[in-house]
Amino acid sequence: MYYEKPNGERVFDGTGGLWCVNAGHCHPRVVEAIARQAGEMDFAPTFQLGHPLAFELASRLVSEMPAGFEQIFFTNSGSEAVDSALKIALAYQRAIGQGGRTRLIGRERGYHGTNFGGTAVGGIVGNRRAFGALLAGVDHLPHTHLPANVHARGRPPHGAELADALERMIGLHGADTIAAVIVEPVAGSTGVLPPPAGYLERLREITAANGILLIFDEVITGFGRMGTTTAAEAYGVTPDMITLAKAITNAAVPMGAVSVAGHVHDAVVDNSAPGIELATGYTYSGHPLACAAALATLDVYRDEGIYAHAAAMMPAWADAVHGLADARHVVDVRSAGIIAGIELAPREGAAPGARAMTAFHKLFDSGTLVRVTGETIALSPPLVISEEETHTLVGAIRGVLAELD
Ligand SMILES: Cc1ncc(COP(=O)(O)O)c(C=O)c1O
Repeated sequence: MYYEKPNGERVFDGTGGLWCVNAGHCHPRVVEAIARQAGEMDFAPTFQLGHPLAFELASRLVSEMPAGFEQIFFTNSGSEAVDSALKIALAYQRAIGQGGRTRLIGRERGYHGTNFGGTAVGGIVGNRRAFGALLAGVDHLPHTHLPANVHARGRPPHGAELADALERMIGLHGADTIAAVIVEPVAGSTGVLPPPAGYLERLREITAANGILLIFDEVITGFGRMGTTTAAEAYGVTPDMITLAKAITNAAVPMGAVSVAGHVHDAVVDNSAPGIELATGYTYSGHPLACAAALATLDVYRDEGIYAHAAAMMPAWADAVHGLADARHVVDVRSAGIIAGIELAPREGAAPGARAMTAFHKLFDSGTLVRVTGETIALSPPLVISEEETHTLVGAIRGVLAELD
């Protein structure tokens, strides 16, 4: 649960590195698996070839994904997983004779990494403005951050109807021009925005009724953060593709993946010309060290009951973080699984985010690492966190806020 500064002081990791170290740092079984693999087979090409570990990991992941998600496409990061999923969506539509469906729909305040596709469907102006027109034919649903939902615990009550904006887009562009919609089930990077009750269900209904693929970007929510393998499982909504990364290897070796529903895979592969079915991929896709780390990580999650621990901790976690509602400067607390966003009032006359950034520095100096995004302190500790550690973390934040101007 801790980093150590060069001077030896310990820093409690309230962010799981960057939403990714779900089993805690330097887990010995993961460390051992990587070391062993490095000495056994450091690299093998995955173009026209395969190696057993990649197949073993793909099969293992398939066994843990929602029913019907039968194929895995490996990448090296969340950004690559997102761009690959968008390309698979376009290839799928073309394969089923819907090649006119080239539009991709994201959402305001969405974050899908920083490659071209992810930046284009992402909804963060600061990430977009320096990079020109990005992709053509991209549109964005409205974000789901509503003032009426202030201090909502878990799924906010208001906002399911925001999914209906997709119907307006269909009215504007024509369903037969839209390939896919991509959303984070819980938007993390723009301040922890859990989905309003009924919202994901509505998006699923509209996409299914209109031949549009639904992609859940689960780079943050995958592997136990919601108390289940995926947020799709936690919320009971099944998309057509799920992007994964981060905690897939407990962050010890870079890796990402797209988990693909069988019908999407089959359409692309069965309708392809002889040769390469999907002309996209990376030198390091299914890298042996990443596969070894991921297999060991999944064993740790299973053998140590880490998802079950997270699920059992969720009520105490929500109690503790929502207890900050009356802390100084706090204007909103949002939570989902073992994630929380604590939003502060902006400092008058200062740049947005200045108060939260001061809190970040003071917390780090006093031994607690958090993440800040805008005026929100975002928490996503390793899932092995105890109730006592949760109270220490929340107490540290309360203490720093009390002293902050
Ligand atoms: C939802 C989501 N998608 C994609 C990414 C990008 O992942 P990476 O930084 O591994 O490229 C992130 C990173 O935080 C993310 O939160």
